[in-house]
Amino acid sequence: MASRNGEPTTKTSPVTANAQWGGRFAAGPAQIMSDINASIGFDKRMWQQDIEGSLAHAAMLGETGVISAEDQRAIAEGLGAIGREIAEGRFTFETALEDIHMNIEARLTERIGDAGRRLHTGRSRNDQVACDFKLWVRDAIDGLSAQMTGAMLALVERAAEHAADPMPGFTHLQTAQPVTFGHHLMAYVEMLARDRSRLADCRRRLNECPLGAAALAGTSFPIDRHHTAVALGFDRPTANSLDSVSDRDFALEFLAAAAICATHLSRLAEEIVIWCSAPFRFIRLSDAFTTGSSIMPQKRNPDAAELVRAKTGRIAGSLVALLTVMKGLPLAYGKDMQEDKEPVFEAADTLALCLAATEGMVRDLMPELGRMAVAAGQGFATATDLADWLVRTLKLPFRQAHHVTGRLVALAEAREVDLASLDLGAMQSIEPGITADVYGVLTVTASVASRTSFGGTAPANVAKEAARWRALLDAEQAA
Ligand code: ARG
Repeated sequence: MASRNGEPTTKTSPVTANAQWGGRFAAGPAQIMSDINASIGFDKRMWQQDIEGSLAHAAMLGETGVISAEDQRAIAEGLGAIGREIAEGRFTFETALEDIHMNIEARLTERIGDAGRRLHTGRSRNDQVACDFKLWVRDAIDGLSAQMTGAMLALVERAAEHAADPMPGFTHLQTAQPVTFGHHLMAYVEMLARDRSRLADCRRRLNECPLGAAALAGTSFPIDRHHTAVALGFDRPTANSLDSVSDRDFALEFLAAAAICATHLSRLAEEIVIWCSAPFRFIRLSDAFTTGSSIMPQKRNPDAAELVRAKTGRIAGSLVALLTVMKGLPLAYGKDMQEDKEPVFEAADTLALCLAATEGMVRDLMPELGRMAVAAGQGFATATDLADWLVRTLKLPFRQAHHVTGRLVALAEAREVDLASLDLGAMQSIEPGITADVYGVLTVTASVASRTSFGGTAPANVAKEAARWRALLDAEQAA
């Protein structure tokens, strides 16, 4: 029975004793027990990982002679067929069978009989679920890392385009010093690069295979855990069976990395919202990333940016949820740990959406360069350049130069002009040593061009950084 959209259906059958573990149970669980216990509603998402893990386990059992070659072949064929049933929406998930592991195993036995009943030799659902979940998180890391690279490329391309275009740089959201728009965008490339490396780090650490730790203590069967580990692309088997089944660090690290990335995206989203607002109007977004208002015809709302900003809450919430589940849990496995999956799925889905929307908006945004340049010169943005000139040319100590500049700013403010429009006489009334040479550092262009220190906003620096990142990302993608 498959639903229209190809999503496999879940059947809630009458509650009877579970065929997989019901040996010592006379009656089935109360309906409410079944409702709280079953995880199939969400863990069916791990069906591919579950089949992959079972194939590796069965291959190892065959290799080590724990099961016969014939049984191993039947299991492999049966699991392959079940995989096709699920992929094609022909599989009925049963709530009575609790989770993805028992749904697949029960169907296997239905298809191939006793050979199916031998699959669970030398393993438990405790190591099985840890293995499946690691495989799932590993895939999610790969997908999200690729998306981060996509967003970085978009930022790098726009930064290269606008390496020399000035905008106001802010601290406290008050005009501070001119920067270039490209420099501002490149700041987010650095953030995403750290996000990617956090995920890579998490992936490296998670890549040990828990399969074969069995329920908690290991097994008396002569299994080969190195065999399964290699078959599933892990670097090695986990070293301690208790830790193997009770560790969810990989999920927590994944969520922490996701939450930090989402936090970065929310900051860019907030900037996009600010930049789109009428008083700023530094950028415009096209129809593709905005919506209209049902009452105010002039409105163009940056909903995508607002939602990226807001969805960060779900991701940070997922981290806190799982930390809270894991806190104080005694070793080894506890059913509490079944609550690990939904926060991870939620965070992975939400981050994927936010990264896609961010890349889309970065590619879509149209900067209003004229308005940005004008704003870059407002708010006495080149006051620091004036102070630096006093230090360099008149050899004033910086603190004194700062004070003189402060007085010049006050004078300009009183006259309602900017610094570059103060005449030389006015300048000299405060510091007699000032010459006409000073006007050379008071323009926005001169200001940004002078910031040539490593990591500074000078257009030449920004162009070089964008090119460096471009080459790095291209090389990565070619590899
Ligand atoms: N559905 C369970 C989970 O997600 C699988 C492991 C169940 N193990 C057990 N001993 N009941 O954690």
